Amino acid sequence: MHLFDLTDRVVIVTGASSGLGDQFARALHAYGAKVIAVARRRDRLDALAQACPGLDARTLDVTDDEGCARLVADVLDTYGRIDGLVNNAGVGAPIPAIEEDLDDFRRVLDVNVTSVFHLARLVAPGMLAAGRGSIVNIASIYGLGSTYPVGDASYTASKAAVINLTRDLAGQWGKHGVRVNAIAPGFFRSEMAEELFTNERAHKRISQGTPMRRTGAPGELDGALIFLLSDASSFVTGQTIAVDGGWSTH
Ligand SMILES: NC(=O)c1ccc[n+]([C@@H]2O[C@H](COP(=O)([O-])OP(=O)(O)OC[C@H]3O[C@@H](n4cnc5c(N)ncnc54)[C@H](OP(=O)(O)O)[C@@H]3O)[C@@H](O)[C@H]2O)c1
Repeated sequence: MHLFDLTDRVVIVTGASSGLGDQFARALHAYGAKVIAVARRRDRLDALAQACPGLDARTLDVTDDEGCARLVADVLDTYGRIDGLVNNAGVGAPIPAIEEDLDDFRRVLDVNVTSVFHLARLVAPGMLAAGRGSIVNIASIYGLGSTYPVGDASYTASKAAVINLTRDLAGQWGKHGVRVNAIAPGFFRSEMAEELFTNERAHKRISQGTPMRRTGAPGELDGALIFLLSDASSFVTGQTIAVDGGWSTH
């Protein structure tokens, strides 16, 4: 139990207003962490805070550079340190490359990659000074391969970038005790993934393409997240853990 203990760890979770981020915030709260839950939709964050007494909900657009800097400064002011960062906020919607314009492509990269780098860089100085800290970036199995037959160039490019950004930051900060890892989820029901669950053909395709013959259930990413944020993974850095029922094996 002690290995996975997160009591009083100060952890920022982005994209906590729905889907995986909402579940991550609830799981970390249940494990005793001081969770700072971040997203744009205030009503969703308020509902989360009501369900998790003591959870600290903050409104933020992760592409707002100054807002990110203010958030990290405020959290440091309030708690004195940041032990963990979960870069989970993300966007993506399938679109043929021929129809995706440059502004849309750049917007996806901005949310899914640039904000991950920016927030990691903002929390790093405190972690490096403390000689400890864990950053977990939420990538995707689509960062390990293409979305074929779907088509979503900006999304796959962004998630592959997250995986290699994770490796590079791990290489730069490892000697100071700051670990950077990623999780590559398979298919989990969320606002972003809704179409895959309501469209019968799509759901059949992803279920049958998964060796475990099903999609992920709510909470099935919690184990990997708690492992990576806790001392249980104290010698693990630069890694991407696929939690995907085996999808990435083919
Ligand atoms: N579901 C899956 O099967 C799956 C698989 C692999 C990877 N992922 C990854 O998991 C992460 C969570 O996605 P999800 O599936 O849970 O989708 P979701 O339900 O659509 O959640 C996306 C979250 O990101 C937040 N967000 C988006 N843009 C933001 C911005 N500019 N600033 C701040 N927050 C922003 C949203 O909050 P607001 O709109 O309130 O700001 C929301 O909380 C994403 O990185 C996604 O790529 C999901």
